[in-house]
Amino acid sequence: MSLELKNLHINVEKKEIVRGLSLIVLPGEVHVIMGPNGSGKSTFANTLLGHPKYTITKGMIELNKLNITKLPPEERAKHGLFLAMQHTPEIPGVSVANFLRLAIAARTGERKNPIAFRKDLLEMLAKVGLAPDFAARSLNAGFSGGERKRLEMLQLLTFEPAYSILDETDSGLDVDALKIVVATIQTLKKRGKGFLVITHYPRLLSHLKVDTVHIMAQGKIVKTGGAELAAEIEKEGFKKYEE
Ligand SMILES: Nc1ncnc2c1ncn2[C@@H]1O[C@H](COP(=O)(O)OP(=O)(O)OP(=O)(O)O)[C@@H](O)[C@H]1O
Ligand SMILES: [Mg+2]
Repeated sequence: MSLELKNLHINVEKKEIVRGLSLIVLPGEVHVIMGPNGSGKSTFANTLLGHPKYTITKGMIELNKLNITKLPPEERAKHGLFLAMQHTPEIPGVSVANFLRLAIAARTGERKNPIAFRKDLLEMLAKVGLAPDFAARSLNAGFSGGERKRLEMLQLLTFEPAYSILDETDSGLDVDALKIVVATIQTLKKRGKGFLVITHYPRLLSHLKVDTVHIMAQGKIVKTGGAELAAEIEKEGFKKYEE
């Protein structure tokens, strides 16, 4: 069981952005990716979920030894991948409650009883610090930045994906929301779920127990270590990793 990126090369608009990215996340591991702006972090994160704008020109993605490189996004999600995007889309007209109910049905084939589902949903909303009326609101429409992130955590708790890629989920969060993000990751980590966490803030690591830190620069991982690597970046920046 693992999420493996093997020598990934990714083009955007015919330009090579990711240039030979390899890493392995095992169940229950939290890997943090740090790197300068424009180093290709969101590019590879979005590619993992199968965004059509990105073309894999070389290498592959394996989920539990299954080659998912060519699978469409919904198939990848079914196999247990979850991506929290740096910029989440709004879906006017689709309520939070309906979106979650349909998403659960699409993933598991299980159609939840609406009354039981509503009870679960209200509990989940409370857990991530969102008011009950969020259930009826259009997905992400007019949500504040922090509210979107809280909703992402609610999705994580609902879907319990095998592997999640969180792209700057901790940016722009108040202290309470950051705690919710950390608690969500810790809860799922304990249940054997794996995480790739892209962040610019070493402060996240003072709350979150991480297994591995990778530095990404110019489209590939240039250094891998433990939490001490984040402290080093905080002090010295990325200069020595940039060509
Ligand atoms: N559609 C596109 N057309 C042209 N260039 C693109 C496109 N998408 C991404 N890029 C370029 O790819 C590079 C990597 O972008 P990416 O968003 O992956 O960086 P990042 O590491 O996530 O940066 P940040 O820390 O600022 O979020 C950037 O130089 C960006 O301008
Ligand atoms: Mg980014």
